[in-house]
Amino acid sequence: MSLTDPEGYESPGAAAVPISRLRRTDALDETIGHLRAPTRLRAGSRRTGRDALLGGLADSMLVHFLRAPALVGGIVPSSPVLAAAMSRHAGGFDAIVELGGGTGSVTRRLALDHPRAALTVIEREPTLARRLAIGCAHARVRVGCVHERAPDLLDQAPRTVAVSSLPFRSLPDEVARATVATLERFLLAHAARRLVQYSYGLRAPFAFRDPRLRWRRGERVWRNVPPAIVWIGEAA
Ligand SMILES: C[S@@+](CC[C@H](N)C(=O)[O-])C[C@H]1O[C@@H](n2cnc3c(N)ncnc32)[C@H](O)[C@@H]1O
Repeated sequence: MSLTDPEGYESPGAAAVPISRLRRTDALDETIGHLRAPTRLRAGSRRTGRDALLGGLADSMLVHFLRAPALVGGIVPSSPVLAAAMSRHAGGFDAIVELGGGTGSVTRRLALDHPRAALTVIEREPTLARRLAIGCAHARVRVGCVHERAPDLLDQAPRTVAVSSLPFRSLPDEVARATVATLERFLLAHAARRLVQYSYGLRAPFAFRDPRLRWRRGERVWRNVPPAIVWIGEAA
């Protein structure tokens, strides 16, 4: 994958659209009209306090959770403390691929802490993906499920870390299976690769099927709702 266009944004089946164009409403409407958030403002328009409140709510984790609880997996974004803990394990890599960027709390931290690493975000929910693309110019945002966008993960540099907020315990079985298979391929392709993932329970996020892979337990983060444990997946 080319990493020369850090602002590239790609909607399903469309060519990459630079952020500068995303801010121009008319050009944007035709290209990714289906990604338009309900809160989107046209140039010169004013948003009332009530509109802003409703707009913020429409894009919140809670609303996305109510629409698709198994796929979103939580009602509040990852806390800054959890984001910082995940980000600490993403240091020293040439590229970072965030899986399930959501509202961007981890994305922002990764971009801040690792400005030299090429950052790609894969997010299945189009309105969230669109906001990530606008809010984080450093990142290339890809819309879709990780297993459907496997090349965006697999075709990265050898020294790449995947930082995941995917809710494996609640994903539909077939999605979880296909995603785990993609992640196993990613980790086994190069010894330097890592997967950083949190879990809410004491158990590892999911079981690797390949015996060459293992989980290492990282820190427990109490200041998150609910408290979480950070795990690192790697070749044994
Ligand atoms: C727990 S939430 C996001 C947490 C994020 N760190 C935040 O603070 O907003 C999980 C996210 O993963 C996304 N997601 C779920 N399944 C996915 C998949 N198979 N591929 C890509 N994104 C997925 C959901 O749409 C949701 O935004």
